[in-house]
Amino acid sequence: MSIYTGYLAIHKFEAELEKEFEIKGLKIAQKLDRLYLIEGNHPAMIWAQMSAFDLELISIASINDGVKKLKALGRNWGLFTVGNHRRAQLIQDELPKYNQKPIPFRHPLPTSPMGFWTLLAPDQMLATTKTSSPFALGEMTFTEDKVMPPSRAYLKLWEFFTVYAPEAINGGTAIDVGSCPGGWTWVLRELNFDHTISVDKAPIEKRIMDLGKITFKQESAFGLDPKDFEMIDWFCSDIICYPERLLNLVKRFMEAGKVRNFVCTLKYQAETDWESTLKFLEIPGSRIVHLHHNKHEVTWFLKGVQP
Ligand SMILES: C[S@@+](CC[C@H](N)C(=O)[O-])C[C@H]1O[C@@H](n2cnc3c(N)ncnc32)[C@H](O)[C@@H]1O
Repeated sequence: MSIYTGYLAIHKFEAELEKEFEIKGLKIAQKLDRLYLIEGNHPAMIWAQMSAFDLELISIASINDGVKKLKALGRNWGLFTVGNHRRAQLIQDELPKYNQKPIPFRHPLPTSPMGFWTLLAPDQMLATTKTSSPFALGEMTFTEDKVMPPSRAYLKLWEFFTVYAPEAINGGTAIDVGSCPGGWTWVLRELNFDHTISVDKAPIEKRIMDLGKITFKQESAFGLDPKDFEMIDWFCSDIICYPERLLNLVKRFMEAGKVRNFVCTLKYQAETDWESTLKFLEIPGSRIVHLHHNKHEVTWFLKGVQP
């Protein structure tokens, strides 16, 4: 029996996912709308909003039979339709309901697995209980703070710390480079760092500065000398710049042994800069993800660097 790995491309970023398959030497078996199927078992992809592992073809005799077979496999099911929309929705409507409300910052993630299924033909489903996200189709949202953050960029850092770094932060120092107007600096204050160093060529908003425990440096981050800093617990960058330039900055701080953890947005111009992206990935122990709140950019991170 054939097993597939399914990848749901991010809306408007199908070309990025296709390029990633090419770089990783994977052959697309089938493309159904934004859903790509690759034969065999493969890992999650950066440019997939959700990866579905061990997908199996399942024959169904009726809507009820489809419902019965999915229920027998698992409880929670995210549906992406690629055709037979009405029939697929009728099956979905009979499956157990689950809560997919926006969550607060650092709320524990759902612990029950989220499955994925689609209807390939009236009598054939593709389904798995193993996916890359506990949220249906990888769509996670937050109960937003519409008052304090001066930009929506804070949602990226909320998502990062909620999903990829939920461990407690006990004081310490964070640096936020490319910080204006102050969304990420605000998140770092929320996390209760003892000291947040915020760096941008443009000033951050006064009401963020007024939160205290923030040192603002109005200068280019690329001119910073790691020697001028004590140990930094989290180095955070959301600078708009070429990824290659950011890589040089990250490497300077890393080689100086001054940083324990990094989280950086790699922002792209018209084209995705794969060459620099792959150089970031060569840094041992690091990972790159496309957060649900990332646009034409990805998030590179490295935790627990031994100085
Ligand atoms: C997307 S914005 C950052 C938004 C911010 N993270 C927030 O949450 O409000 C990118 C920032 O990079 C800054 N930037 C660009 N070049 C820079 C440089 N050489 N040094 C420091 N900041 C720079 C820009 O001034 C801009 O404020």
